[in-house]
Amino acid sequence: MNVHTADATTVEEGLAIQEQQAVLDSETATAVAMQDTLLTPRFYTTDFEALDAIDVTPVRADWDALIAEMQADPNKGHFRKDETWDHVDWEGMEPELRKEFIDFLISSCTAEFSGCVLYKEMKRRGSNHDVTELFQLMARDEARHAGFINDALREAGIAVNLGFLTQKKKYTYFRPKFIYYATYLSEKIGYARYITIFRHLEEHPERRFHPIFKWFREWCNDEFRHGEAFALLMKTDPKLTSGVNVLWIKFFLTAVFATMHVRDHQRPAFHKALGVDTDWYGHEVFRKTSDLSKQIFPITLDIDHPRWARGLTALQEASVAIDAARRQGGVAGKLAEWAGSAKAARAFLSLLTIPAQRHEVPASTRMEPVY
Ligand SMILES: [Fe+2]
Ligand SMILES: [Fe+2]
Repeated sequence: MNVHTADATTVEEGLAIQEQQAVLDSETATAVAMQDTLLTPRFYTTDFEALDAIDVTPVRADWDALIAEMQADPNKGHFRKDETWDHVDWEGMEPELRKEFIDFLISSCTAEFSGCVLYKEMKRRGSNHDVTELFQLMARDEARHAGFINDALREAGIAVNLGFLTQKKKYTYFRPKFIYYATYLSEKIGYARYITIFRHLEEHPERRFHPIFKWFREWCNDEFRHGEAFALLMKTDPKLTSGVNVLWIKFFLTAVFATMHVRDHQRPAFHKALGVDTDWYGHEVFRKTSDLSKQIFPITLDIDHPRWARGLTALQEASVAIDAARRQGGVAGKLAEWAGSAKAARAFLSLLTIPAQRHEVPASTRMEPVY
């Protein structure tokens, strides 16, 4: 058997390798990954039978080409430390940056692993060859991604116990169509986030304070392919992207973008170290994700609308107020928490009611990564 997740050719093998290393994993990192709030990565479950019933005949040619690309496995062996992995001075790292960066790694690892668990379960429960083949390939990739982030965390003396998470983390049920919207978006926004950081650091290599960023280009190409797969799955059923479902799409776009904004603003030292203005970065990622999602969604959010930036700021302020109120505790804390939640709800509603931009969806969804 291979000894590194980078070489694992199946998700089972990747996870077995993780299991062997679990003795080194730390309680605190796992506790952070276990958190379930509106803002932290969740684990999902769905109606696997409905998913299994999908017929990909309407998109057969594009489907086969995508599966062939994933089977060719261009990133096999990529997700491992090699000679270009620079030494990281964890001890000498500025404490705020260290804290935020570790939080970033734990949350990224949890998100990658959340995809892995969902895809693996789909593969296990399904009997539709097209569907199980796709989910097996995607689970393989996510196991490598999560394993690689854990390698980086181990250098800092911590790691997430992935086996423990699988058993103990709460699973949120989503109907299949919500899985499509949420997962499609998280794959595409993941691509946009990784490639934006990668391109920025190409121009400013002196800002690359950790070697893992060098891996982001190939990494985001995996996420791009995963997003393509969900676009094709949605393309098989036009109802998923029309009628009342367009409102659901708007809801998911708004929720995913808003969550990213609030989460990123919780990490000022991390973005400062990268030399990235958090608002610029967010806008750039939203723009790229919007452009990509035109392949399948008939609307995009108007991220240049004056109420957009205002709403995001209000939401973020509310989130800070809620955190402070929770820390305060007592009756006063509870009241302040409610006030904060009300403010957050108003801000989210304000974002949600910005008129969306409509456009024609192309006949063929397939795209190549161009950023
Ligand atoms: Fe991934
Ligand atoms: Fe992915």
